[in-house]
Amino acid sequence: MFFAPRPSSLILLFVPAVVTVGTAASGLWGCTRPSPPDRFTPRAVHHSFADSSAVVRHVALDLTVDFSAGVLHGTATHSLSPAPGARRVVLDTRDLEIEAVTLGPGGIAPAYRLGDEVALLGRPLMIELPPDADEVTVRYRTRPGAAALQFLDAAQTVGRTAPLLFTQSQPILARTWIPCQDNPSVRMTYEAIIRVPPGMLALMSASNPAGVNPDGVYTFTMEQPIPAYLFALAAGDLAFRTTGPCSGVYAEPSFVDTCAWEFADTERMIAAAEKLYGAYRWGRYDLLVLPPSFPYGGMENPRLTFASPTVVAGDRSLVALVAHELAHSWSGNLVTNATWDDFWLNEGFTLYFERRILEEVYGREFSETEAVIGRKELERELMLLGPDSPDTRLKVDTEGRDPDEGSGVIPYEKGYLFLRLIEETVGRARWDGYLRSYFDRHAFQSMTTERFLADLRAGLVRGERWIEDSLRIDAWVYGAGIPSNAPVARSRSLDEPETLAASYALGESTVRPAAVRWTTQQRVHFLRKLPPAMPAALMRRLDAEFRFSESRNADVGFEWFLHVIASRYEPAYAALESYLSRIGRRKFVKPLYEALAETPDGLVRARDLFSRARSGYHPVTAESIEASLHRAAAGR
Ligand code: BES
Ligand code: ZN
Repeated sequence: MFFAPRPSSLILLFVPAVVTVGTAASGLWGCTRPSPPDRFTPRAVHHSFADSSAVVRHVALDLTVDFSAGVLHGTATHSLSPAPGARRVVLDTRDLEIEAVTLGPGGIAPAYRLGDEVALLGRPLMIELPPDADEVTVRYRTRPGAAALQFLDAAQTVGRTAPLLFTQSQPILARTWIPCQDNPSVRMTYEAIIRVPPGMLALMSASNPAGVNPDGVYTFTMEQPIPAYLFALAAGDLAFRTTGPCSGVYAEPSFVDTCAWEFADTERMIAAAEKLYGAYRWGRYDLLVLPPSFPYGGMENPRLTFASPTVVAGDRSLVALVAHELAHSWSGNLVTNATWDDFWLNEGFTLYFERRILEEVYGREFSETEAVIGRKELERELMLLGPDSPDTRLKVDTEGRDPDEGSGVIPYEKGYLFLRLIEETVGRARWDGYLRSYFDRHAFQSMTTERFLADLRAGLVRGERWIEDSLRIDAWVYGAGIPSNAPVARSRSLDEPETLAASYALGESTVRPAAVRWTTQQRVHFLRKLPPAMPAALMRRLDAEFRFSESRNADVGFEWFLHVIASRYEPAYAALESYLSRIGRRKFVKPLYEALAETPDGLVRARDLFSRARSGYHPVTAESIEASLHRAAAGR
């Protein structure tokens, strides 16, 4: 069964329009017949209007990328599996202009209706189905500024030769570029024809071309069923380099060799992942390195991870990102969180798996260093949220909220600690055996927290009281904060930066030669161990000795600029401004704006910087910063 709502929510799926999102009449739009298809507008459940009346199994796209208008237009043909007696199909849309609906390409036009707009969720597209209809085609165009899409001018790319487009669908933005059932419990295969200007390369989360088609028309297929949040498209002046028989990197031509060098270990990571948890089921594994406005470090689009150039540090120090997005090929893309409340099943499992891959490829010290740094991030966030906040639970409640604005590192690092606790309790052999079978038994299915816990109890705990008692599963999953039985990671390589930070803080130390060779992780740790606000003399000395303001490493720059802002260290503000206008990765730029906005004059500065940098940010980043600055101005 796809998309099986909880029995209680079944009742809620069909509620009279009058009590939900307005009347049927006010929602009437673009009907080809005068009467609406039925009296009911579905209520969004788990961020999607799609109900179980008819489920989409396959989507065929035919889309043209119009760079001058900044829109996509074309058709999406959905193959349906209607429930017995179902008379309609419901698709999610947001900011889409629906131009026509037909029963299959060129078929007759059924009645359809767009419901009223609901913030974040968009409008349900309800299409009446005659008996036996199992295909609908929607002709549509996106609106300029659609939240999933970023159209970059040539000037915003590395090569400055051609404009570039990329999408970001997770968690609920696929509906801003495809009318679809945008619910992670609904899986579909897809095929696509994508038309781009001649000379450009188009890529998707699907089988991909290795080179340019002179006519700019590309075809794609994704044969494995995936949820809508994994639909992805990019187009631009892009080139390909291989990193092994089954892997490679796409990037702008002048940058692609640098990227291929950075990610040379990809093939080893795939081998390590397969050894741990079974066959990689998606054919090839390629990366696409995007311009710096890409709003995330990485996105696990199947067969083609999208990555920020901020992970191309020049020394391979940030390749954990590849291990992470690759691990999603099992945790997330194969076994998928059923709702965004179960997000930790995607990210906690993936972080655990990522660190196991890193241990295989680079050794225990490296993976432990990552775990120690991660634990610090977790502590920092727990402090911010408060230890009793419901958002510090693994299973969260995001109903009525934006699932993308949620709890940051909690699902990642708390999820990781929980799985590591299971590993340390039952032993690696038993845990790995269970996890491998878990991925196998639930491949291409969605998973709720409750079904995972039942599976864990049946397949691993098996009624052994001592395991149940040592784990305290419910405290981990449904309780706030970090239970006292959390495992502890240890790393020697962070001792030196820690000691040095302490002596700097006391004004004692001079740089020891080893610091020159520090890894990104050691620099980050050093910066985090310094007091947030420091006197100008100490800031000057740190910058002179470590050249932090000039660092091209975005992780290091981020930690440094937090100190710059907390210390109001004016000499580095120009470098901060350059950082904020160069990089659009939300994890870095949003907290910097928020830190600036903590003081009244800082807020003025933040607004000024934002107004100048905004056009370079992806809508995902821009909208988040806007909301933060708004909150700061309102004193919240
Ligand atoms: N799937 C996430 C990115 C994401 C999460 C996008 C939620 C939209 C909503 C991706 O796998 C991820 O976790 N990326 C991290 C990097 C990783 C190394 C922890 C990021 O972007 O920082
Ligand atoms: Zn992830």
